[in-house]
Amino acid sequence: MYEIVAREDFSDSTFLLEVKYPLLAKAARPGQFVIVMSNADGERIPLTIADFSPERGTVTLVIQAVGKTTMEMQRRCIVGSALYAMVGPMGKPSEISKMGKVACVGGGLGVAPVYPQARAFKQNGAYVIGIVGFRSRDLIFWQRKFEDVCDELIICTDDGSAGIKGLVTDGIAMAVDKHPDIDEVIAIGPPVMMKFCAEATRARDIKTTVSLNPIMVDGTGMCGGCRVSVGGEMRFCCVDGPDFDGHQVDFDELMRRLTRFREDERAALERWQRNPGCRLEQEPTASE
Ligand SMILES: Cc1cc2nc3c(=O)[nH]c(=O)nc-3n(C[C@H](O)[C@H](O)[C@H](O)COP(=O)(O)OP(=O)(O)OC[C@H]3O[C@@H](n4cnc5c(N)ncnc54)[C@H](O)[C@@H]3O)c2cc1C
Ligand code: FES
Repeated sequence: MYEIVAREDFSDSTFLLEVKYPLLAKAARPGQFVIVMSNADGERIPLTIADFSPERGTVTLVIQAVGKTTMEMQRRCIVGSALYAMVGPMGKPSEISKMGKVACVGGGLGVAPVYPQARAFKQNGAYVIGIVGFRSRDLIFWQRKFEDVCDELIICTDDGSAGIKGLVTDGIAMAVDKHPDIDEVIAIGPPVMMKFCAEATRARDIKTTVSLNPIMVDGTGMCGGCRVSVGGEMRFCCVDGPDFDGHQVDFDELMRRLTRFREDERAALERWQRNPGCRLEQEPTASE
């Protein structure tokens, strides 16, 4: 069991859990993820390691409650409670090369997982430009953490209530106009955001790395559930990624595959909402 030692709610749907797991905190590298079960009967879900502290022996996850399992976690995971299982670190660590200048771009929930990269690039001596996007000022989180590791921070909000009014792609345009010598852009967020970040850098041929989030099952390269097309080749995100060259990824296919189980996901959520405590309710009925 993995004790939850801290929790912070960033909004109605987004929350942070800091989990005690000293071995994992020591082994984790930027870009890696864990697979978590919140309870013995629960689904295994992949979550990016948003921060890790070998000193505190903890791993930090930032979670958006979008369906049955993440909403159940939002309700159940309080300080002092524990996750039933947590496996990791999984996936290949991000390549933190000795770049001169990098832009680390996070949109919405993607702001959290891009933080370890920004910190690692800074520790490696790079000039780091952080570009973070939120719908509005009240949804901003980790501004201070980013300021501590970035040489410049561009905050973008959809409604203009903080920073510049616009999307992270507007932030990228600003950054590359000011710094034509940016060596690499790292973009993490919803697939559609990563797709447009890759398009924003394609014409200038700036290396662009994205972190993909297809549906995963085992996370060990055996089931094929997480396959993605990159440069016309099939890759397994869990073992070959999650980082890939954004200019080579078939984002349209990724987005199509993410909707494959929408009906089942909706039914599972409805069953759980009808009776969150009842395990029998969680099983599909014959009519479903
Ligand atoms: C490498 C990786 C890292 C991720 N990191 C984070 C993170 O840091 N924070 C976060 O909130 N979410 C993260 N996700 C997405 C998260 O795993 C899903 O939101 C979660 O599994 C949804 O489960 P649910 O039962 O709440 O919702 P559901 O209703 O089951 O699904 C909602 C949507 O989530 C996606 N999803 C569902 N099941 C899975 C699955 N087994 N694997 C991947 N995606 C799934 C699908 O797009 C689906 O339409 C990550 C996914 C991957 C692959
Ligand atoms: S999740 Fe099964 S192969 Fe990647």
